[in-house]
Amino acid sequence: MKEHIQQLLEATVSRLQAEGLVPAEVAPRIQVDNTKDKAHGDLATNLAMLLAKPAGKPPRALAEAIIAHLPASERVAKVEIAGPGFINFYLDTQWLARQIDALAQDAMLGVKTAEPAQTIVVDYSAPNVAKEMAVHHIRSTVIGDAVVRTLEFLGHKVIRANHVGDWGTQFGMLIAYLEDLQEESDSGSMALADLEAFYREAKQRYDADEVFAERARGYVVKLQGGDDHCRALWRQLVDITMEQNQRIYDRLGVSLSTRDVMGESLYNPMLPQIVADLQAQGLAVEDDGAMVVFLDEFKGKDGEAMGVIVRKKDGGFLYTTTDIACAKYRVETLGADRVLYFIDSRQHQHLMQAWTIARKAGYVPEAVSLEHHAFGMMLGKDGKPFKTRSGGTVKLADLLDEAEQRASELMAQRDSDLSDAEQAEVVHAVAIGAVKYADLSKNRTTDYIFDWDNMLAFEGNTAPYLQYAYTRIQSIFRRTGELACGPVTLEEAAEEALANKLLKFNETVQSVAAKGMPHLMCLYLYELSGLFMSFYEACPINKDGVSSQLKASRLTLCQATAKVLQQGLALLGIKVLERM
Ligand code: ARG
Repeated sequence: MKEHIQQLLEATVSRLQAEGLVPAEVAPRIQVDNTKDKAHGDLATNLAMLLAKPAGKPPRALAEAIIAHLPASERVAKVEIAGPGFINFYLDTQWLARQIDALAQDAMLGVKTAEPAQTIVVDYSAPNVAKEMAVHHIRSTVIGDAVVRTLEFLGHKVIRANHVGDWGTQFGMLIAYLEDLQEESDSGSMALADLEAFYREAKQRYDADEVFAERARGYVVKLQGGDDHCRALWRQLVDITMEQNQRIYDRLGVSLSTRDVMGESLYNPMLPQIVADLQAQGLAVEDDGAMVVFLDEFKGKDGEAMGVIVRKKDGGFLYTTTDIACAKYRVETLGADRVLYFIDSRQHQHLMQAWTIARKAGYVPEAVSLEHHAFGMMLGKDGKPFKTRSGGTVKLADLLDEAEQRASELMAQRDSDLSDAEQAEVVHAVAIGAVKYADLSKNRTTDYIFDWDNMLAFEGNTAPYLQYAYTRIQSIFRRTGELACGPVTLEEAAEEALANKLLKFNETVQSVAAKGMPHLMCLYLYELSGLFMSFYEACPINKDGVSSQLKASRLTLCQATAKVLQQGLALLGIKVLERM
């Protein structure tokens, strides 16, 4: 609605300028705000005050001129001048009511499909091979997945790119160690059940045993050269890691599958060609045996252009080289219009360097946007990086076990007439929902404090609160069984406030898609639930004295709210339950 009023005001300014009432060169920043008090209408603008001086008229006189030139709109019931020259807009509740009727019937719930649909590559999750997924990976995975779901809902073609860390010199040592284990017993792959321990032991042997280290280094070269034996062992490591990760994705309800793996190794064969091309274009130059791109955009400490190594002295390529090739591939081969990277904020400079080079080399045209959607760290209650009590990294699987444990204790304290199977489903949905939502609901750009008590609370901006709000509406429907929904009429302020909020679902979805920020959806759903609770208190449904027409209208409001809650939570990757 704000946008609508804004457009009306823009048209008005043009009209005033055409008539010479306002100088043509003035371009006011038109601001439309929600009013604090409904007695002053729904929306207000200070435009008359902004234009008074350039127009050489008192603000109230200009406000009158603005109103006289305002294009007619079915959405506006009344316009008034207030105070020194504010213009207040009263929205037409009939128009609003008809929008809610339509929204309740619409599979998209009033959300406008993207036009044109784009091809959008989303880089998220990206765990590393032979490493257990740790808590910090949850951020990228959960936030990225919510944005992916939102973009798909809008009709975009989304390509999930799981940029798995499956390449690099560490594989020499991992392959050699796996080989040793398999020679010692034929159950060598069993050792991979605990990847973290496997990695640690491989590293220990590498550091302690020079003969082993020599063999490991040889394997790096062989693997690079495509040696079958090394390739096969490498494949095992990748597959076992990704099987374990897939179990976590499934448990979390994350929409990634093994088909979405596009690891670093995919780009490896492209790297020699990329470096040769960068050199041919004069971008990369030899510097002390290495190939380096000097970027004026990035200054080192000494104020000199920063050198980004794309090929080391020993011929090895780097993480940056891979990301240059990767950006190119996403544009040229995948046909991306937009690429979103959900990566830790500490990798920002790395990405900027890779992209600057990719753009200079002409691999990524101006029209394609490359976006780093950075996020901060997950901190413990003490404000330090989230760790186990003994200081180790917290395994995601253990974290989810604890969430289920805590959720089941919590649910046991509540009265419930659910069967054991239903209870178990509730516990799972609440536990997973709470962990995901805790992450999603914070502005991702900052660090966030992981706190069990907050995330599992039934009060406040939490998953259990929203899940509960949804089941509460479902229980209204169970109790009003034979009553049907009908056309909406908005009489009470609480009904109008709820309706206005429902209508903002569209703009919320659009901004999550544009900014890659799911916390906007969380906040919206939280506010929507709050308005619903107020509506439900103020506006009885199944009570004597409420006309059947009003009952039907209020049920439609309930239904629309339930649908928006369910859809909004689904876009966040969070399940709702009929009963809990
Ligand atoms: N595997 C990397 C890590 O764990 C993240 C990769 C992110 N994606 C990328 N295109 N660089 O830090």
